[in-house]
Amino acid sequence: MAGRRAVEEHLGRLREEHGVDLAIVNGENAADGAGITPKLAERLLAAGADVITLGNHTYRRDGIGPYLAASERVIRPANAGAQTPGRGLAVAEARNGVRVAVLNLLGSLFLDTPVSPWEVVDGLVDEARAAAPVVVVDFHAEATSEKVALATWLDGRVTAVIGTHTHVQTNDARVLPGGTAALTDAGMTGPHDSVIGVRAELAIARMRTRLPVRFQPAETGVRLEGALLTCTEGGRAEAMELLRVSL
Ligand SMILES: [Fe+2]
Repeated sequence: MAGRRAVEEHLGRLREEHGVDLAIVNGENAADGAGITPKLAERLLAAGADVITLGNHTYRRDGIGPYLAASERVIRPANAGAQTPGRGLAVAEARNGVRVAVLNLLGSLFLDTPVSPWEVVDGLVDEARAAAPVVVVDFHAEATSEKVALATWLDGRVTAVIGTHTHVQTNDARVLPGGTAALTDAGMTGPHDSVIGVRAELAIARMRTRLPVRFQPAETGVRLEGALLTCTEGGRAEAMELLRVSL
């Protein structure tokens, strides 16, 4: 809740301050740290998100399937399996009129992923490039190695590969030699006095005792984290910087 509130209260202001033409928000845990509801997705869009990406917790909440099936701006990982509702690619127009394709993919290491991202990524990137000059990939994955590997594989074919899922922002924002910006993980907008958003004592109790413990989201140490990407209208990345705002 603290993270969603931070986006609702500050995304608009940050967009103005930094002159942001398009904002992508990973919203997979907007509903008290687990999943997202249609109502919360609409609130994030109203707060200034142009596209919302999701992840391995996409379907945790009731009602999200039909919403995703109908939505063009809220997407789930493209390799979430053929039986799951929704789409994995969105095309939006930035404020400066440039079309931007956003592709959401799940990693295959340490996650229960139905289809390997490597099996589908090239075809999806071709589809995205046919739709828009700027292509941003949200690679929702656990392992740093897999994220660096995918960014390197896509270097020169997409504008940016930005990792999500670990909740821990990495200090490796860079532009690769072919013109693709890469960041292993954009971090977490939420309460950082926690174990990746969960009240620390509950997360630790589950790990120490191996007994079932009901998780609750933490509330304090809230930061808004992400990345600021600058690129040409043709889709070549020029710079990427970390965004980390304490609230
Ligand atoms: Fe995740």
